[in-house]
Amino acid sequence: MDPSHLTIEALAEKLGSVDTVADMLTHIPVGMLWVDDHHVVQYANERACKIVGIGYPKLVGKTCADLFGEHYPKMLRERFPHEVTLHPDNVGPRVVEVGLVGTESGHHFCYLTDISIRKELEIELQRRDTFFHDLIESSVDGIIAADMKGRIITFNGGAVDILGYSKEDAYGSLHVKRLYPEGEAQDILKRMRSDEFGGKGRLLRHQLIAITKEGNQIPMSLSGGIIYDEDDQSSEIATFGIFTDLRAIQKIEQDLQQTHKMLLQSEKMAGLGRLAAGVAHEINNPMAGIMLYSNLVKEQLGPDHAAQEDLDILIHEAERCKQIVSDLLEFSQPTSFERTGVDVNEQIHKTLAILHKGPLFQNIEIQLELEENLSRIWGNPVRLNQVFMNLVVNASQAMDGRGRLSISTRHRSNKGLIEIALADSGPGIEKDILGQIFDPFFTTKAGQGGTGLGLSVSYSIIRELNGTIRAESEEGKGAKFFLRFPVLQPEVTEIES
Ligand SMILES: Nc1ncnc2c1ncn2[C@@H]1O[C@H](COP(=O)(O)OP(=O)(O)O)[C@@H](O)[C@H]1O
Ligand SMILES: [Mg+2]
Repeated sequence: MDPSHLTIEALAEKLGSVDTVADMLTHIPVGMLWVDDHHVVQYANERACKIVGIGYPKLVGKTCADLFGEHYPKMLRERFPHEVTLHPDNVGPRVVEVGLVGTESGHHFCYLTDISIRKELEIELQRRDTFFHDLIESSVDGIIAADMKGRIITFNGGAVDILGYSKEDAYGSLHVKRLYPEGEAQDILKRMRSDEFGGKGRLLRHQLIAITKEGNQIPMSLSGGIIYDEDDQSSEIATFGIFTDLRAIQKIEQDLQQTHKMLLQSEKMAGLGRLAAGVAHEINNPMAGIMLYSNLVKEQLGPDHAAQEDLDILIHEAERCKQIVSDLLEFSQPTSFERTGVDVNEQIHKTLAILHKGPLFQNIEIQLELEENLSRIWGNPVRLNQVFMNLVVNASQAMDGRGRLSISTRHRSNKGLIEIALADSGPGIEKDILGQIFDPFFTTKAGQGGTGLGLSVSYSIIRELNGTIRAESEEGKGAKFFLRFPVLQPEVTEIES
């Protein structure tokens, strides 16, 4: 017979047999108590005895107040099931749900369900919830979730740190669109919906720019996705994203590239240096011969001879060759030089004092920003002069004798370095030759007296002094040279002096 057709009367008739009722009460997995109008237990089924932890003979005759304490009056008043913690003998505390059904006769039917396991699970769930919440909150990556209208529903501590919005900002009025440049938010959603970027509903390591509260742009890597309704996979509920700030990584990459470039440069220099040394020695002797014989011929011909002027040119050019050769030797095998503590500012002043009277400097405005009481570096004053001289002369040549040259020094105490910056207002250095200017013989002044040795000799000297030199140039904004030298440590002074 179809059970839905069993009327309550029919059921009563079926239960009419005492055996059936007894059977049912015994096996039903719910504790049952029959309580009289004085709230004394008259009957308890097997399950009820087990739940309250009292045997049948002892349980019958107990009052509900004995069993449920202060909860009982409340149960009577409120009528909905109450959670009561019982302490049966032999077993640990049990959480029991107790409900009451009153009858017309003033008796009560009381049912008990042991919900200890459910309770434990609830606590465990809550614990996990807190754990995941803490986990998300403490991530250094920004974790952000938003509903499909763009309202923020999760904004963790990492997001606060990176983007500068407070939680109140985020949960208050911040729309997720404002975290990206115009149009980017829609683009990201499109990418998440397509299955080309890590599967449908997912986006993996997508590089983008995020905008902070102050309007700064930060390079980020975003991995995220769409959360769908569990029952309806086509219904989108929210989007989430994990943002990694790429600034630190990009900085490391740049430093690595810089180091790599410097390594290449020093390798190249070492190779060229050996070659140059050989060539220089070969040239030196014939050059000395040319000069010696030119001078002899000059003397023999006498001061009034028509060839005197030509001979002067010959001697002058030969001298220039000698200078080039000596520069070349200097670059390839820098003669070791004595070192002392050197005041960089003083050397800059000395260099400028020598140069400023020259014709190339008449129309050059020199701006100095030299840090006072600058720490000394471990170097050689004459060599440093030579370096500054090369740089300053290059700048004035680039500006064609007209423009502005700024020279600044500062102590970068966090790095233990002295940094010297020279910036000119000349045409700058084109990108594709920026990597070659320190190469020996690289010059764009061929035919105008350029030898291409100034920067390579300077590079060798600076390297010998454990320093670095780097050039920067933006088109039309002049050239900048940065020199760094380790600061002289006080201990060194004591040992050496
Ligand atoms: N301040 C500067 N502005 C523009 N270009 C520069 C500057 N300094 C150096 N250069 C470039 O670097 C090249 C190499 O310089 P350097 O080694 O001193 O040789 P030279 O001055 O004899 O050409 C120069 O020919 C020039 O093209
Ligand atoms: Mg030069």
